[in-house]
Amino acid sequence: MALRIVATTPQPALVTLPWDKPLEEWDQRVCVTLPRGLSRHIVRFVRLGGEVYAVKETREPIAWREYALLRDLRRIKAPAVEPVGVVTGRETRDDEPLEPCLVTRHLTSSMPYREMFSRGVRPDTMPKLVDALVVLLTKLHLMGFYWGDCSLSNTLFRRSAGEFAAYLVDAETGELHHELSKGQRAHDLDIGTGNLFAEVLDLQAGGLVGDEIDPFELVESLNGRYDALWGELTGAEDFGTDEMWRIEKRIARLNDMGFEVDELDIVTDWDGATVRIQPKVVDAGHHSRRLQGLTGLDVEDNQARRLLNDLNAFTAYHGLQGADPAWVAHRWLTEVFEPVTALAPENRRGQLEAAEMFHEILEHRWYLSEQRGKEQDLMETARDYFATRGDPGTPLTELPEVTTLPDSHT
Ligand SMILES: Nc1ncnc2c1ncn2[C@@H]1O[C@H](COP(=O)(O)OP(=O)(O)OP(=O)(O)O)[C@@H](O)[C@H]1O
Ligand SMILES: [Mg+2]
Repeated sequence: MALRIVATTPQPALVTLPWDKPLEEWDQRVCVTLPRGLSRHIVRFVRLGGEVYAVKETREPIAWREYALLRDLRRIKAPAVEPVGVVTGRETRDDEPLEPCLVTRHLTSSMPYREMFSRGVRPDTMPKLVDALVVLLTKLHLMGFYWGDCSLSNTLFRRSAGEFAAYLVDAETGELHHELSKGQRAHDLDIGTGNLFAEVLDLQAGGLVGDEIDPFELVESLNGRYDALWGELTGAEDFGTDEMWRIEKRIARLNDMGFEVDELDIVTDWDGATVRIQPKVVDAGHHSRRLQGLTGLDVEDNQARRLLNDLNAFTAYHGLQGADPAWVAHRWLTEVFEPVTALAPENRRGQLEAAEMFHEILEHRWYLSEQRGKEQDLMETARDYFATRGDPGTPLTELPEVTTLPDSHT
């Protein structure tokens, strides 16, 4: 049988991989070592032409199904790993058949949850991961995607300004519908809570999480947060026609949460005294789209929100409120963001890393300013930050416990 590679974008180097060997036997000459979550199938990471890919050995119908679903998810811009291709017709040199492989692009700067816990994390990490999972599940449901196996293991996490952004990594059990019924959503959430419960117990059994986390409470918070977010994003609101400002307010609230209203259903009753509004279509990525439009930086939504806050502070400090926003943003980018992040070591040069680092430097400045009793200069703070804790792995455990921080410019 001939080796067949179906790929979204031609990556000629894919052909050069040792497809005639089981993935288990692919060695260090081919593979790169990166953190990987728990899975039934064998997964290996390879570097080809400057890009890293994940290769998963699986049965043929599953590979095709997952590939097609990931392509659908890509099309609707869902937060999921990007499919690259399916490799079938694999055989060993002795003509023994080998299982097909699904190839996806490695999600840059992402971490499986277990890896995070084995490195040591701050006590609030678990609730933050659950928050990120809730946001992911809600986004998928808004798009009509039934996951069927929502879990921490089937999710990858990226740091996002002290919080996390979650991405779907395993779409094997998913289904894309026009819209999900309440029952479908509830069932999906049920599976998610069951999986989360088991995963927390497993972390506790492995000594990676202490007894301070109550699995029952955590599962309850997953349910509660999902209901609250779903209600906020899709719920109808009734008010009198003298309260029309509530339309703007609802939209502003959604924007603040990182969502954008694409379509709003506004219905007035027959005598025109009351109005009912209901967001019909909401889109995620409000802040990241705005930041990208202004600066070209493509980062996570929370990171974008933080950077936009700093840009606002810069605008106010220099009295540039009346100036062209694109020009001000360019000044901020070249006078503040780029000089600060250029101090970073080689291994933190990507945009996501730069944005996270910038957020941490702002936190660090707040911390130093408090400690020293006066506002610290940003460049000096950055130098101190890199000298004292420039390693991306360490800040999670060593950052001071801070909550909301002001953004300011000196
Ligand atoms: N594109 C990717 N980027 C980064 N990591 C990836 C990628 N694809 C797979 N992985 C890693 O491999 C792990 C296993 O992948 P996946 O969940 O798809 O396997 P699986 O065997 O189908 O899982 P399950 O046991 O749930 O059926 C993930 O948890 C993740 O850590
Ligand atoms: Mg999985």
